[in-house]
Amino acid sequence: MNRVREQYERACRYLAGGVSSSTRVNKALGHAMLFDRGEGCRVWDLDGRDYIDLCCSHGATLLGHGDARVRAAVEAALARGFPCSYENTWHAELAELLCQTVPCLERVRFTSSGTEATMHCLRLARAFTGRPKILKFEGNFHGYHDQVMFAIGTPADRLGPEESPAPYPGSTGLAAGLDRNLVIVPYNRPDLLEAAFQRHGAEIAAVIGEPIYYNAGCIQPTREFLDALQRLPRAHGAVLIFDEVLSAFRMAPGGAQEYLGVTPDLCTLGKAVGGGFPLSVFGGRKEIMDRLMPQGDCQHSGTYNGHVVCVAAGLAAVRAYRQPGFYDHIFAVAKRLYDGLQAIFDRHGVAARVQGLGARFGIYFGVSGPIRNYRDAVRHHRDQMLRFIRLAIEQGVYFHDYGGSACHHGFCAAMTLTDVEEALRRLEGAVAQLAQGT
Ligand SMILES: Cc1ncc(COP(=O)(O)O)c(C=O)c1O
Repeated sequence: MNRVREQYERACRYLAGGVSSSTRVNKALGHAMLFDRGEGCRVWDLDGRDYIDLCCSHGATLLGHGDARVRAAVEAALARGFPCSYENTWHAELAELLCQTVPCLERVRFTSSGTEATMHCLRLARAFTGRPKILKFEGNFHGYHDQVMFAIGTPADRLGPEESPAPYPGSTGLAAGLDRNLVIVPYNRPDLLEAAFQRHGAEIAAVIGEPIYYNAGCIQPTREFLDALQRLPRAHGAVLIFDEVLSAFRMAPGGAQEYLGVTPDLCTLGKAVGGGFPLSVFGGRKEIMDRLMPQGDCQHSGTYNGHVVCVAAGLAAVRAYRQPGFYDHIFAVAKRLYDGLQAIFDRHGVAARVQGLGARFGIYFGVSGPIRNYRDAVRHHRDQMLRFIRLAIEQGVYFHDYGGSACHHGFCAAMTLTDVEEALRRLEGAVAQLAQGT
């Protein structure tokens, strides 16, 4: 038995399921992957095998593993004794930088995870509007708190009608009746969004959505859908929240909102904002953010909020994303990787579709035509995807499967065009075996 399997089995003896996070088990392998180290776009497992990393810490390490700028910032924080749970000058510096970088941000608050960021953002929206309901889109994922753990991975045969998608729970243990405060609408359906506002408009505190729907691979919003998002919440006195935990910094320094030219009232940032350290952010219009205590009456606190090491890492990371040429490189790598991978599938006669934007992408097996929402994504051939991921890992390219419908994959800025060619060579071998059914 290799060391990865041996150590995973050892972990299972005391760590529930062998992991610190349920989705960390790679469903394509049936166990968690244990990496010993990472550098740039590569990771090495416990047995010394190297992989080109197309998971990139589920999106957290957009700069690559061991980025020297982030490392220097963290070491500076450590050298100063890392007194945490206090403010220092770096908090205000990062807050100012974020407000200069992300269009909707006039004020921000720091949290440690994306889950906390969306949880606090939704509470704030309810406090601000005095209304109970949240409108979310079918399949969009906003973290692991109970308010939004519905319609995130609904099985294809339990979706319900498009006019009123089922609030299928994403976990057991949720208090009965929580879904009464949710209105669920399919993504990219402006007509159904309008109908939902006609029906529930006076009760809706907030619309929360992924501005680029990366949690089902990569789905872009249509112009009509974006127009409806800009118009309807405002017309009905609701707050528009873009959950940019995954999309932030992926295709523009100001995230999807800058790229799409749509400014929400509030947004969340996570993953890449901390440069590989646990930092998340929520923020937006001053008038709304002023409702937070101590000025206002809405609570947001936490011992580890804005941990000094993470804030230092975040400052280094956001400065790096703002460097001239950063996104030229991201788009050059994206084009070669996505076009190259699509060409490999086509050459080997494998029905698969690559959809990507900026540094993240999805692969859909056995579909024809574009994927526009969760209902399209959930119908792709999951078994074939799992086989592809298994073969890619054997060939030295790491993809992660989270256990849902389609998944998001991605690369980091440390990846060069030469690395892309190497990744494509390795993937050619995987796809050839997939096509032969081995
Ligand atoms: C869009 C979105 N929101 C929220 C979350 C939750 O973030 P975290 O895992 O940091 O709690 C995620 C995580 O994948 C996400 O993709």
